[in-house]
Formats: sequence, C-alpha cells, structure tokens
Amino acid sequence: DPQQLDMAMNREREMRRFIVMDQNVDEYYGSKVRKYFEANNVHYKILSLPTTEETKSMDLVLSILQEVHSFGIDRRKEPIIAIGGGVCLDIVGLAASLYRRRTPYIRVPTTLLAYVDASVGAKNGVNFLQCKNKLGGYTPPVATFLDRSFIQTIPRRHISNGLGEILKMALMKHKGLFDLLKSHGKYMLDTKFQSHNGLVNHGDAALKTTRLAIETMLEELAPNLWEDDLDRLVDFGHLISPELEMKVLPSLMHGEAVNIDMAFMTYVAHENGLLTTEEKADIIQCMKGLELPVWHEDCNLHLIKKALVERLKHCGGQMRMPLPSGLGMAEIFNDISEETLERAYKLWASE
Ligand SMILES: NC(=O)c1ccc[n+]([C@@H]2O[C@H](COP(=O)([O-])OP(=O)(O)OC[C@H]3O[C@@H](n4cnc5c(N)ncnc54)[C@H](O)[C@@H]3O)[C@@H](O)[C@H]2O)c1
Repeated sequence: DPQQLDMAMNREREMRRFIVMDQNVDEYYGSKVRKYFEANNVHYKILSLPTTEETKSMDLVLSILQEVHSFGIDRRKEPIIAIGGGVCLDIVGLAASLYRRRTPYIRVPTTLLAYVDASVGAKNGVNFLQCKNKLGGYTPPVATFLDRSFIQTIPRRHISNGLGEILKMALMKHKGLFDLLKSHGKYMLDTKFQSHNGLVNHGDAALKTTRLAIETMLEELAPNLWEDDLDRLVDFGHLISPELEMKVLPSLMHGEAVNIDMAFMTYVAHENGLLTTEEKADIIQCMKGLELPVWHEDCNLHLIKKALVERLKHCGGQMRMPLPSGLGMAEIFNDISEETLERAYKLWASE
C-alpha cells in the first residue's frame, strides 16, 4: 500500500521525543517546555510522574517503559529526556538502559543536588527491598543539559541540602570553592543560585560555585566511572551518614546527614593532627553559614562504630577514610584508631 509507505516515510522525517518530567517540575515549567517542543515542531509525549524517594522503584521503571513502548521511539536518534530531581533522573536512566538493551537518554537536573551531583557520572538506580539504590547500573546519559533557572523554585532547605555535596568537594579538593561558600554561601541561599547583574560584592558567585563543583566532581568521577578503585574522595561524608539517614528517616535530608558526618570527620582530622584548631573552626562555621546541621544526637559513638564496620565490609576490609588534610586538600586513611575516634567524638559532643 503506497499510502502506508508514505506515512512511514513521514514518520521517519518527523522529530519525536519522549519526555519524563517530575510532577512538581511540570507544574512550574510544564507549559514552557510544551511551548518549546511545539515551536520546534516536535511530536512529543510528556509523561508527568510523582518521582519521590517513596516511588523510586522498579514499578515506576516498568510503567515508564510501557509508555515508551506504546509511543514508539527510534533508539538510534530519539533519546528519552528526563527533567527533574535526582530521583527522576535515576529512574529514567535505569528505564532507558533497559529498553532494547540501551536507549540513549538526556538528563535535565532541576534541583541543586541533581545539578551538581546526579548530573555527573554514569550511575542510575531505584530502591529495592527497603534498600537505597539496590537495583541499578552504570549507563551514562548522552548529554546533560544544565539550566540553573530551575533552581529558583527550590525551597531553602533543599538548597542547603545541595550545598552539603558542594562543600564536600570544596573540603576534599578546592580551597577556592571553600572560600566562595564561606563568603557567598548565605547570599546564594537567599538568591537561590540565580545570577544577578551588577552586584559587585558577590560577582557571579552562583555560576563560579556550580562550575567548580561540577568540575571537581568530574575530575573525581570520570577516571573511575565503574568505581573499580575503592579509594574515593567523593565518599567523604558518606561513611557514617547512610546509617544515620536510615535511623532517623525521614527527618534528615541526604545532604544534611552527609554534613553531620563531615562535621564529625573534621574533628577526627583535627585529632589526627591534620587540621589546625582554626581550620577546624573555619569549616564548622562555614557549615553553619550554609544552614546545615553540624550535630545530631542520634549520631552517637555506637552508631559511628556500627557504620564503620559496615564500611569495612563493603570496602574489601579496609576503612578507606577520606579526611581533610588542610582546607581543600585530603588524603585517604586506613589506620585511624578507635581511640582517635573516641577522642574526636568526645570533643565534638562537648562543643
Ligand atoms: N545517580 C547519581 O549519581 C546520583 C547522585 C546524587 C544523588 N542521586 C539520587 O538523587 C536523589 C536525590 O535527588 P534530589 O535531592 O534532587 O531529590 P528529588 O528528586 O526527590 O527532588 C526533591 C523534591 O524537589 C522537587 N523538585 C524538583 N525540581 C524542582 C524545581 N525546579 N522546583 C521545585 N521543586 C522541584 C521534587 O518534586 C521533589 O519533591 C536520591 O534518590 C539519590 O540517590 C543520584
């Protein structure tokens, strides 16, 4: 039937896109996104989903795949687009990696945390049997599109949450980034990471900060995409926080738990002679300025030791503890004694 052939050829010429969008993002930005696709004559489908930590599961992956299948995409030239926070990007990444063994996808992060962290790297995944990110893979996106204007609708506490991961990179790798957070942290919280012209005092702090955060993150992740090397500076703040986060769920956000871990580790580094008293105070002060918690009563010595035993199990019997050895510098340690941990804890708890 020649008509059918015509239709098939038109279908080949037409631009088609399948988009998955976080429901909240759809509320704020959906009409703009639709206008964009219409203006560019794209035949599109937007699947708007409640992508939260509670729905981050294989069920949602399968329901996305059902919709992808009925819309029909050409995996050679029609990447799936994910627009949302880290949860949305992780679910869609996993769905795309499974569909026809691997369909390209594009990440468009819309939270600060996703912008600096989930935007970079190859990992995706969903929660399984009450365990965080238990099912997943390493399939990098074909591209990540960064647009900071999404961040203007993020609540203040969520911005602090993202700042926790940025501070991690600063403490491990970049004194300049630490100085930016120290001097402009509050301003960036107030202005929700948007750029404003003509404010001499702050320059374009948000642009500089996000750029440095992503660059340092890339430097760490790119040579070790599949995490074969277990000595990772990006694990700073992630030794004790998983245990703490699970224990007090849902009262602490991820970046907050990470910060409590980093605050304790700052005391450990000081006890071990790696940081001066002033540097230690400087770090804690910066954390407070970013409105991040530096202490939690449930983060007691028992929990700390339990978490470190877990760490040993998952890291081939070695602690691999990243610690700051100055501002913006770090090393990985395997020989921090129980006594050092106890002394650090005592001091941390007393201040
Ligand atoms: N793959 C990776 O490398 C990687 C890295 C870091 C984190 N993660 C994952 O990311 C998740 C956390 O990401 P998150 O902090 O972005 O959480 P999230 O995706 O749950 O988003 C947080 C909240 O913000 C809302 N939201 C998103 N964009 C918004 C906007 N522009 N304006 C207003 N509200 C908006 C969402 O609807 C949600 O309610 C975790 O599941 C974590 O495992 C993955």
